[in-house]
Amino acid sequence: MTALIEVTGLSKTFGGVHAVEALSFSVDEGQIYSVIGPNGAGKTTLFNLITGIYTPTQGEIKLKGEGVVGLEPNQLAERGMCRTFQQMQICMNMTALENVMLGRHLQLKSSLLTTMLRLPSLLKDEEDCRDHAIELMKFVGCGEYLETEASAMSYGALKRLEIARALASNPKIVLLDEPAAGLNGTETAALEELIKKIAAQGITVVLVEHDMKLVMGISDRLLVLNYGRKLAEGTPEEIRNNPDVIAAYLGG
Ligand SMILES: Nc1ncnc2c1ncn2[C@@H]1O[C@H](COP(=O)(O)OP(=O)(O)OP(=O)(O)O)[C@@H](O)[C@H]1O
Ligand SMILES: [Mg+2]
Repeated sequence: MTALIEVTGLSKTFGGVHAVEALSFSVDEGQIYSVIGPNGAGKTTLFNLITGIYTPTQGEIKLKGEGVVGLEPNQLAERGMCRTFQQMQICMNMTALENVMLGRHLQLKSSLLTTMLRLPSLLKDEEDCRDHAIELMKFVGCGEYLETEASAMSYGALKRLEIARALASNPKIVLLDEPAAGLNGTETAALEELIKKIAAQGITVVLVEHDMKLVMGISDRLLVLNYGRKLAEGTPEEIRNNPDVIAAYLGG
């Protein structure tokens, strides 16, 4: 079986900082795969490398067996990879629905062009895009906010809106960078259900999270980073019992 994502010998340095170093791992299709580790461990840098925002200093990244280093984020979106950001990328002066529709256009540059040209034959596409965005907003539990300006939405609702936006281009794989950060217990429980629902649709989920209860509960496998390096990799059970993880990260 070919891994959906295969990372080999991946490194990224910023000046003297080894943000990611000699990292190898793979994510199988249909998994919920989590990346954990202390602040500054290199989790977001890893996402930025996988999604084409950064170019690796060294190493290889394969998507469905094909090398993708050097591809732009929108080219990766066209190949089925989308993400959310630790610092939310929501346009606050637009409605929730517009944000989700824009997500599709931003990720798939070609459709942005067709929208700008406004060809009559493409208005149907635009309508489909809108219908799809409405469906996605309901799917993430934002159905009541369709015409709400983003600035008027709660933080928890915005975090879910960002997920709808990432799903707008029909990804096969979605990377979520700290979706539970800042959420209360009820919102986190709803997020857990949402991630399970996404996975149940056959979408592979790669998750960066600090909420241990959440990641241990939903992940098929976990990668533990420490100073940019792999400290451990395995099932939640294996990670929980790994002496290196206990010593370095879970604090005994
Ligand atoms: N663009 C950049 N320029 C310089 N240094 C960077 C850059 N991006 C990340 N770093 C450094 O790389 C290291 C890893 O940072 P990164 O943001 O990947 O960590 P993280 O695991 O996502 O942390 P957190 O849990 O706080 O989000 C840190 O030392 C950080 O300062
Ligand atoms: Mg981060």
